[in-house]
Amino acid sequence: MGKSYFVALFFVSLVFFFLPLINGGLAMAAGTPEGSEKWGYVEVRPKAHMFWWYYKSPYRTQDPHNAWPIILWLQGGPGASGVGIGNFEEVGPLDSFLKPRNSTWLRKADLLFVDNPVGTGYSFVEDEELLVKTDEEAATDLTTLLIEIFNRNETLQKSPLYIVAESYGGKFAVTLGLSALKAIEDQRLKLILGGIALGDSWISPEDFVASWGPLLKDVSRINDKGNSLVKKIKLQIAKGRLKDATQTWGDLENVIMDSSNNVDFYNFMLDSWMESVSMAATELARAAPRKRYLRYLDSLRTFQGGNSDLGLLMNGVIRKKLGIIPNDVKWGGQDGLVSLYLEGDFMRPRINEVDKLLNKGVNVTIYNGQLDVICATKGTEAWVEKLKWEGLKTFLSIDRTPLYCGDDEKTRGFTKSYRNLHFYWILEAGHFVPVDQPCVALDMVGSFTRSPVSTK
Ligand SMILES: *[C@@H]1O[C@H](CO)[C@@H](O)[C@H](O)[C@H]1NC(C)=O
Ligand SMILES: *[C@@H]1O[C@H](CO)[C@@H](O)[C@H](O)[C@H]1NC(C)=O
Ligand SMILES: *[C@@H]1O[C@H](CO)[C@@H](O)[C@H](O)[C@H]1NC(C)=O
Repeated sequence: MGKSYFVALFFVSLVFFFLPLINGGLAMAAGTPEGSEKWGYVEVRPKAHMFWWYYKSPYRTQDPHNAWPIILWLQGGPGASGVGIGNFEEVGPLDSFLKPRNSTWLRKADLLFVDNPVGTGYSFVEDEELLVKTDEEAATDLTTLLIEIFNRNETLQKSPLYIVAESYGGKFAVTLGLSALKAIEDQRLKLILGGIALGDSWISPEDFVASWGPLLKDVSRINDKGNSLVKKIKLQIAKGRLKDATQTWGDLENVIMDSSNNVDFYNFMLDSWMESVSMAATELARAAPRKRYLRYLDSLRTFQGGNSDLGLLMNGVIRKKLGIIPNDVKWGGQDGLVSLYLEGDFMRPRINEVDKLLNKGVNVTIYNGQLDVICATKGTEAWVEKLKWEGLKTFLSIDRTPLYCGDDEKTRGFTKSYRNLHFYWILEAGHFVPVDQPCVALDMVGSFTRSPVSTK
């Protein structure tokens, strides 16, 4: 990353944007004229730049006794762009054809998207070595971002922040939750943490890999539920050989693909048809962990039917609108490196972090799509049962309440809560719950953020 773009950017900034220098770091932001959207870069560490995009809800209310919530959306991957995928393909105001999304979560809350960890989407590092190697490093960077955005805005400080994660984002969400609470305690961060929601989240890799065989056997997709690779992964995790475990995880995915005639890991009712198309055989034979992540990202990008090219959109019209993306930064250009640098933490469980949050009284909501394989409900239930939290026994023993949505009488899911732990089972949804079941997902979000426009 040369100096020239900074110089060019500086002069552009003088004209169009504000460019304050905080703690020696460069913070830069722009937005729409009427203030409904804001976006910018925060230099979370020297030469490590994180991009964020904030949408103010048109439904925002002012009642001080019923504060309007803000949702921070954390995408998975690792290395998948929240600003691109979460925003345009899942819950933002516009879809990837730039048509209004009826079920946008803006109906219930303000939305803050971020390209996390640095290197993802429009975020970038000027030196590869600055990419994060652990979930905690990512959480520290995100905390720095929150300090930059919230400490200078009293309106935002009055709104509780809900961290909502999908997939690998769950590991960032729980580490960020703890890191943000610490920063709030130390008075470095002015923010109310409303709660954390873990959507189909990769909290305990060993419980997920163990769930794949039995689940797929029960739904007739494979013939043999046993697999020696699961044992191998457990052993590798127990011995702290986490990079090896990541490798074996990849091998296991391959075996399952073969024995299921290419089940889609994000919805077992589907075939993973795009994978053979998007990846050449020679490419599949290259370094194992990396190729898995790329395949994951490819499937994310095209899961909506494959007709919209998110890369073209983000590197075309959207970057033009934003106006502050440096010329030599390509959206998604460093995504693959992000996942590569995290391969030593990919298989590390984060159940303890969930326990810590529960013990601190933070509201933790878990939701899971019925048809997901990669983060199957079966695996989620298995790690929940490992919690040491004292309310667990009661939580497990109580009954669930059915969920409906819209005018029909169809059961859309189930939920139950005990104290600060809440669980939603979402029927007929795969890994991407808001995409597969937008109506019930929106109700759920309104409910767990205690949105003033929550319908029930
Ligand atoms: C849009 O959402 C509203 C309320 O959430 C609903 O009443 C309406 O039917 C939806 N419209 C479409 C086209 O889905
Ligand atoms: C602070 O938040 C309010 C409410 O969303 C918004 O209108 C305003 O533009 C924000 N200011 C800054 C500096 O971000
Ligand atoms: C947790 O959620 C419940 C139910 O929505 C609410 O009554 C409670 O105040 C919340 N607790 C915290 C600490 O936000």
